[in-house]
Amino acid sequence: MRIAVVGSGYVGLVAGACFADLGHDVILVDNDQQKLAALNNGLVPIHEKFLPELLSRHRGHRLTFSDNLKEAVQLSSAIFVAVGTPPTESGEADLSYVESVAREISGGIDDYKVIVEKSTVPVYTSDWVRKIILRNGASPESFDVASNPEFLREGTAVTDFLFPDRIVIGCDTPRSAEVLRQIYSPVTEGTYYDRADAIPRPDRAITPPPIIVTSTKSAELIKHASNAFLAMKISFINAVASVCESVGADVNQVVHGVGTDSRIGSRFLNPGIGYGGSCFPKDVMAFRSVARECGYDFRLLDEVMRINEDQRHRFLRKVHSALWTLRGKNLAVLGLAFKGGTDDIRESPALMLVQTLLQEGSQICAYDPAAMGRAREILGSSVVLTNSAYEAAHGADALLILTEWEEFANLDLSRIRQELKYPIVIDGRNLYDPEVMAAQGFTYYSIGRPASHPDDVPAGVMKNGKKA
Ligand code: UGA
Repeated sequence: MRIAVVGSGYVGLVAGACFADLGHDVILVDNDQQKLAALNNGLVPIHEKFLPELLSRHRGHRLTFSDNLKEAVQLSSAIFVAVGTPPTESGEADLSYVESVAREISGGIDDYKVIVEKSTVPVYTSDWVRKIILRNGASPESFDVASNPEFLREGTAVTDFLFPDRIVIGCDTPRSAEVLRQIYSPVTEGTYYDRADAIPRPDRAITPPPIIVTSTKSAELIKHASNAFLAMKISFINAVASVCESVGADVNQVVHGVGTDSRIGSRFLNPGIGYGGSCFPKDVMAFRSVARECGYDFRLLDEVMRINEDQRHRFLRKVHSALWTLRGKNLAVLGLAFKGGTDDIRESPALMLVQTLLQEGSQICAYDPAAMGRAREILGSSVVLTNSAYEAAHGADALLILTEWEEFANLDLSRIRQELKYPIVIDGRNLYDPEVMAAQGFTYYSIGRPASHPDDVPAGVMKNGKKA
């Protein structure tokens, strides 16, 4: 099938490359000439596993780049809209990019087209897109608007796209549903997975995934409700972690006990310094706001956001309780990205904490395996960026772990201890076992677990940090 994808941001670029890998002919449309030139020249603008491979496989063949939206619409049967929907000051989604794309799409509709919302949008957006296209001259029978929300996570975006838990298509006509079914048939019928050159299947993938056909409004709500629920899970466990701290319980044990109930599940129950990124913070706010507009006061979501913000303040208090004053202290920071596996620093709780620590007068040496280029644009020379965790730790008063990179869970602890001026680790992601850290000679603070000290290494844990 011929497909146009409008917007070459995270979702658009990954969707375009994956549709090409499923065998479709894709035109990726963007109005940013520099971005198009970079893509044509083989550059990959985001850090994402398998994306470079897919782009080099299909660039110039099944995947082309263009700034001509009208022509791309004329050449395609389905047009996926994946432009940004940033938050306005009041927290609603700004839909002006979606509107202007809808207006332009109208001019290219010459025979039947399906216009598909791929960006995260509030309920009723498909109605508006339809109205705008009609207002600009397209005839009612020449197109349908559908919603096909995307559930990809940064860092695993390609495998999330090709091996999804489910595919949701919100369509109000059988004709548009059929077009979307055909587009996803290599995945839903499993033929993609039989191919020798298919992207490797992740461990937990259930293939082929089910296709869930709903109304467009339901599909729009599925996306917002899914992200809000996941954010709620994280805030819930962060609140439980705070109770654990008050009573001396261990949140990791609680998560294990709670998460093994299959009705709850253990995923997205990792406590930390709060959720960040370009999706959860924005989508929880937008869902709160659209619910209010529709007449429902969704106060639960206020609490989800409040706990999330509080989590950073609690972490900061922990740093204070470990180091007393922060003015003039040298801190080693591991992690600047909003989570492991990405170079994205948008709404990164790690970066926000770094900025607060700087305001309080600390000096910071930071290391992140992927996000240093982007962080430098924000932090300038206020932070020393190093080439390794060990370099960051050199001479520091304490080490702070702020992002859950795998690399940070596998540090050479004796080397870290030698580099640090004082063996203090404050772990915002619970990457280590407190007993092991104490046995390695660290005073160790984490989230929702009692602090551990070298003096109170329990029997059964040897000084080398291994459990007996
Ligand atoms: C999120 C959703 O997981 C995707 O399903 C969705 O498609 C995407 O938003 C989107 O709307 O586009 P993403 O923002 O890439 O994906 O990142 P997540 O892996 O969900 O992590 C979000 C934040 O939650 C990170 O800051 C992470 O550190 C934090 N987190 C996650 C926790 O603190 N604890 C957890 O257990 C899981």
